Amino acid sequence: MASAAPALPTKVLVTGGTGLVGNGIQAAIAEEGGAVAGETWVFMSSRDCNLLDIAATRAYFTEQAPTHIIHLAAKVRA
Ligand SMILES: NC(=O)c1ccc[n+]([C@@H]2O[C@H](COP(=O)([O-])OP(=O)(O)OC[C@H]3O[C@@H](n4cnc5c(N)ncnc54)[C@H](OP(=O)(O)O)[C@@H]3O)[C@@H](O)[C@H]2O)c1
Repeated sequence: MASAAPALPTKVLVTGGTGLVGNGIQAAIAEEGGAVAGETWVFMSSRDCNLLDIAATRAYFTEQAPTHIIHLAAKVRA
């Protein structure tokens, strides 16, 4: 019987990771044991990469190479 393929490493990139919702996820991961073993979480802010700059965004995502993305970055308040 064939064995299951090993799981790929998981790297989750959270855009808007420094915002209200991103901070909530950070707390769930760091303080409440929300991460699964082997997962890497990256919480980015606009200082890490300005997502309005396509060249910077391509370079950042190439460098980070996430397997999963939670996209929270937004201009929420006027
Ligand atoms: N808060 C709520 O109750 C609520 C409810 C429902 C839905 N949502 C949705 O959830 C998402 C996040 O909301 P939030 O309240 O967490 O927002 P927030 O506190 O205002 O945080 C916004 C995040 O987006 C980042 N950001 C803004 N412009 C950026 C850019 N040009 N490049 C890269 N990053 C950028 C900010 O980075 P810096 O800190 O570096 O500026 C910050 O981390 C939004 O889509 C919102 O509509 C929120």
